[in-house]
Amino acid sequence: MLFESTYGRPVGATDDNRGAGFRKEAVQVKRRHSAWLAAGFALALTISACGSDDGDDSGDDSSSKSAQGKVGVILPDTESSVRWESADRPALAAAFEEAGVEHSIQNAEGDVDKMTQIADSMIADGVTVLAIVNLDSASGAAIEEKAKSQGVATIDYDRLTLGGSAEYYVSFDNNVVGELQGQGLADCLGEKDANIVYLNGSPTDNNATLFSAGAHSVLDPIKTYKTVGEQAVPEWDSEEAAVIFQQLYTQADGKVDGVLAANDGLAGAVISILEANGRAGKVPVTGQDATVEGLQNLLAGTQCMTVYKSATEEANALAEVAIALANGEKADTTGVTEDPESDRDVPSILLTPKSITKENIADVIADGGQKLEDVCTPEFADACKKAGVS
Ligand code: BGC
Repeated sequence: MLFESTYGRPVGATDDNRGAGFRKEAVQVKRRHSAWLAAGFALALTISACGSDDGDDSGDDSSSKSAQGKVGVILPDTESSVRWESADRPALAAAFEEAGVEHSIQNAEGDVDKMTQIADSMIADGVTVLAIVNLDSASGAAIEEKAKSQGVATIDYDRLTLGGSAEYYVSFDNNVVGELQGQGLADCLGEKDANIVYLNGSPTDNNATLFSAGAHSVLDPIKTYKTVGEQAVPEWDSEEAAVIFQQLYTQADGKVDGVLAANDGLAGAVISILEANGRAGKVPVTGQDATVEGLQNLLAGTQCMTVYKSATEEANALAEVAIALANGEKADTTGVTEDPESDRDVPSILLTPKSITKENIADVIADGGQKLEDVCTPEFADACKKAGVS
């Protein structure tokens, strides 16, 4: 499938001219860094003939592949959102496969030390480009600094590393994600007096700050709404989210009319507490990631909206940037993102997120964001039919 990126260029092209161009460009590698990089590159080529090490490699037919060195990607965890393993990993593998890039994708499983170790071993294995989804800015910045000192270029994937040294940032416009959540909640609540609770993402995730700021920028000016509780959920942990939300709910004497939950995992936790209090389906709850659980909650009427961020689009954008870096070329960007900690303008590709309600669930499925059979299980067959999802 030809996927048109929001910044106007086709990405993930298959057998069209762009795909051919990729391969042609790829062999004219300009050596960008030091002799170390040249050595690393030669090593990577040698390694590429053997495929990569973790079962998610490109290894089938290396003879037809381009020669850009090797890209390492470190995903953050398997708990804070199902997206990393169920959406990002396959989309990234497909994007690198399609571009013929040797790659290794690993998951730090929420452990900062593990992420550092993976980065070290990827560098030792000869990656020329390393992309990370940091677990917190300090550890992310340390990984990037070390990579840089060894001639390995880095990319921030999805989360900006504050005070980091990544050459590029690839993500969605996270402020807009928050605005969509705020607007979605306002649409579900309508113009009435409403007490709102905010359940924000991890305090160590810069995205969580942006989501919350975006949501507040829409909801705070609506004078009939009142914030009656707001808390960040460490590591986006949904079990902790349930405990935190129960506390906020009790503190507000149950007088909660809407909940701004930062992603579908947190939304699920909120819905379970609302259910226990006989209020599920009566109190609108937002989310993010258009997960199967989130979409089914939309169908059930217990969640009012989610935000869809195409993993294919984000992965393709990362692959393009990684290939440019590996070739010593500049990547096309949509602008810069200011890192408030270092005052650095980080060249960025920021993609456009999409608001999803019960009315347009079919768009996620049509775009390949989820499979129909995963969302419309027998339990949800009637609701799917009613919502026009088939
Ligand atoms: C991502 C979200 C995700 C959350 C938890 C954020 O940085 O942008 O898509 O739900 O982390 O993993």
